[in-house]
Amino acid sequence: MLQQWKGRSLLKEQDCSAEDFIALVAYAAALKADRRAGTEQPRLTGKTIALIFEKTSTRTRAAFEVAAAHQGAHTTYLSPDGTQIGHKESLADTARVLGRMYDGIQFRGHSQEAVEELSRFAGVPVWNGLTDRFHPTQMLADVLTMREHSSKPLDAIVHTYVGDARNNMGNSTLITGALLGMDVRLLAPTGLQPEQSVIATAQALAARSGATVTVTDDPDTALKGADFVSTDVWVSMGEPDEVWAERVAALKPYRVDDKLLARTGNANTSVLHCLPAYHDRRTAIGEKVHQRFGLDGVEISHSVFEAHAPVIFDQSENRMHTIKALMVASLNPPLD
Ligand code: CP
Ligand code: NVA
Repeated sequence: MLQQWKGRSLLKEQDCSAEDFIALVAYAAALKADRRAGTEQPRLTGKTIALIFEKTSTRTRAAFEVAAAHQGAHTTYLSPDGTQIGHKESLADTARVLGRMYDGIQFRGHSQEAVEELSRFAGVPVWNGLTDRFHPTQMLADVLTMREHSSKPLDAIVHTYVGDARNNMGNSTLITGALLGMDVRLLAPTGLQPEQSVIATAQALAARSGATVTVTDDPDTALKGADFVSTDVWVSMGEPDEVWAERVAALKPYRVDDKLLARTGNANTSVLHCLPAYHDRRTAIGEKVHQRFGLDGVEISHSVFEAHAPVIFDQSENRMHTIKALMVASLNPPLD
């Protein structure tokens, strides 16, 4: 199955088959075990990787750079304000330049159309490191983490995402669950649910995979029996500060705290968060939200965050193993 990744890009989850997706996650688990055992073999020696970031990042950048280093590849970080992209040079021209120098390109930016255009013109694999619409490399890490923290097969898992469900994480979580046959549920007020085309894509995937897809504003329908509850920030990168007030008003009932979690009725529910998280006042934004709205911790309470920190930080470590699997599978996959 890994050979099928050779030369391919990862732009959004629905471009993959379930088998393609699971093959990457399984390979990431093997690479993680090799790393732990000290038996990792570099398969990207001499390769060059461009990392374009229109938006900021901690995990995604670190994951690409560290994974590339482990595998013998060299990376170039192209920062949000350090390139000609957009203001002096079109993305299509940039793609044709970088495609001649690099073996693969990671792109994090605003529009999904941009990463798709980059991929059309680059002639080398392009990996979507987050757009406003999708966050597919995060999904690889989330599924690896589910594999590690649940004894159930993936298609028996109940995953409930709570919060701003029409952002990149909401869309990607719905599509990924539908692709892999999960019981996937989005819990959000009606104004913050995915647009109809995303729900329709998920439903079409579910018809093939046997997944159950639920989008609701009712906590009991969404939470009952959940194996995993995940959430994300209420205001995403690129959104204006002005939306905070309406977001807090809309999402306050959907904050992941002990009370909300208890509604799963499952004492073994694990909590996921892609990070960064506002779970206390130790960030500039966390403090500002506390001053303005009286919330101490925003989308997730501090006590829930800390109680589930071991899983959440496994999830963040898994960004590196899964991104490594993706780069190797695209550029030099081992024979199955
Ligand atoms: N989860 C995630 O993508 O984190 P960064 O924004 O730090 O890359
Ligand atoms: N929805 C968040 C995800 C961060 C990893 C954002 O786009 O800012």
